[in-house]
Amino acid sequence: MARAFKTVGVVGLGTMGAGIAEVFARAGLSVIGVEVDAEALERGRGHIRRSTDRAVSRGKLTAAERDEIVGRVTFTGALDDLGGADLVIEAIPEVMDYKRALFTDLDRICGPGTVLATNTSSLSVTAIAATTSRPGQVIGMHFFNPAPVMKLVEVVHTVVTEDGLADDVAALARRLGKTPVTVGDRAGFVVNRLLLGYLNHAATLLERRVASRDDIDTAMKLGAGLPMGPFALLDLIGLDTSHEVCEVLFQESRDRVHAPAPILRELVTAGLLGRKSGRGFHDYEGAPARAASEFPVKMGVASVCVMGEGAEELSSRLAAAGFKRGEAHDADVVIALSSTPVVEHAAGLPRPERLVGLHLVGGDVAELVSTALTSPEVALAAHDLVKVLGLTPVPCADRAGFVVDALLYPYLNDAVRMYDSGYASIEDIDTAMRLGCGYPAGPFETLDAIGLSTVRDGLRALYAEYREPSFAPAPLLDRLVTAGVTSIRGR
Ligand code: 3HC
Repeated sequence: MARAFKTVGVVGLGTMGAGIAEVFARAGLSVIGVEVDAEALERGRGHIRRSTDRAVSRGKLTAAERDEIVGRVTFTGALDDLGGADLVIEAIPEVMDYKRALFTDLDRICGPGTVLATNTSSLSVTAIAATTSRPGQVIGMHFFNPAPVMKLVEVVHTVVTEDGLADDVAALARRLGKTPVTVGDRAGFVVNRLLLGYLNHAATLLERRVASRDDIDTAMKLGAGLPMGPFALLDLIGLDTSHEVCEVLFQESRDRVHAPAPILRELVTAGLLGRKSGRGFHDYEGAPARAASEFPVKMGVASVCVMGEGAEELSSRLAAAGFKRGEAHDADVVIALSSTPVVEHAAGLPRPERLVGLHLVGGDVAELVSTALTSPEVALAAHDLVKVLGLTPVPCADRAGFVVDALLYPYLNDAVRMYDSGYASIEDIDTAMRLGCGYPAGPFETLDAIGLSTVRDGLRALYAEYREPSFAPAPLLDRLVTAGVTSIRGR
């Protein structure tokens, strides 16, 4: 018979724990929220209060409904109060020693029928379960930040999880209004395994000065259609958590792309943890960051020469905006339309300092590529030119994949590898990324939309440039392209 979950304990009322407590309370369950000290308990209470107040101010809840929801949560500093709970979910910091100690205590305190769940982002559920006398009743229940909003719950079973428990927990997730995806116990599960590699790579591109923080955020939001840029998202997740997840991924994968980018460690050490501390990559307390669109407008360009595929259309748009068509040898600015590095075009020009590359992404974004020879004045002028055309400029260095493809293609490749390893199905991976991160499409939907061979070729170029082993096209992707398959979902 399926388990009936009525009373749920939540240990740890930080951003995630408080959000999880709210989700259970909204679904009508009684919640016991536990925090170690009075101050943290008050912060947790404040989180739930603010989140539900916001729902009232947006007209999503009435004041009476909010009071009912908050009233379902009992706040306590005593773990012993969890003795009678049907389910206890842990949401404390990502430190294995803390988790083991907590589960040892919970095992002692809770009745024999209590299911113990962890909201760990990446640590081994099996290792946590092994500290208890009931490893069969320990499971992963992984929510996404902000928990009241994101629709996914990863249900993580281990090799010793009792039969039927994952199904019962998945049914509970549905009762909460979430969509469960059930998977086995591997570092990062589906979402964090795919997401943190991408976020860490964005931090590496920043460190290598391929583009600025705001330009990378803009490129991924407007160019790839993601709800947030990578640095805004790292700040939301918390840089300490992000660093820990990367560390755990690296321990399992030994893949350098998971080794935390040094800038992450530096910010964490400085106490800049993201939104929760008021500052991370972005500043949430001080002056708002200068928007990329506030770039000074300084023209002085009369003629433009455009080369490459699509040159005629762009030339016409520029002519309509009042710019003369020039030739490569005499134009003030020479634009090479290209999805690959453009320095070789510059090398053949009489005035290579006048050349910039331009790569249109997603309709609105123009990656503007400066080569080692481009003069700063021409880069500025090109920036203004694309703004005149109504495009959002993303200045970047002349590297394979520029910004968007360099971040997107390895993520798609990782998804193919994950599927090919047998860990999760194409449908589950697509669902997990759409509902866990608010992506407009899952990786396989994106792969099909871009085209398998385009992504395979892009990965080859990325591998040739960065020499990261995991950027080499996944064998399955390579085989599908060779076999002439055009849709990985439809094959
Ligand atoms: N708590 C509660 N509700 C919140 C919230 C919060 N912190 N932030 C936003 N919301 C609600 C708003 O009230 C609003 O609700 P409504 O539609 O019912 O009125 C809704 O979310 C949309 O909010 P906004 O209009 O203010 O803002 P956006 O439209 O920009 O959406 C976002 C904000 C939902 C955070 C969106 O940007 C998004 O989906 N971002 C991606 C987040 C993501 O990837 N999360 C997963 C991170 S990985 C993770 O958590 C795993 C961990 O192990 C590391």
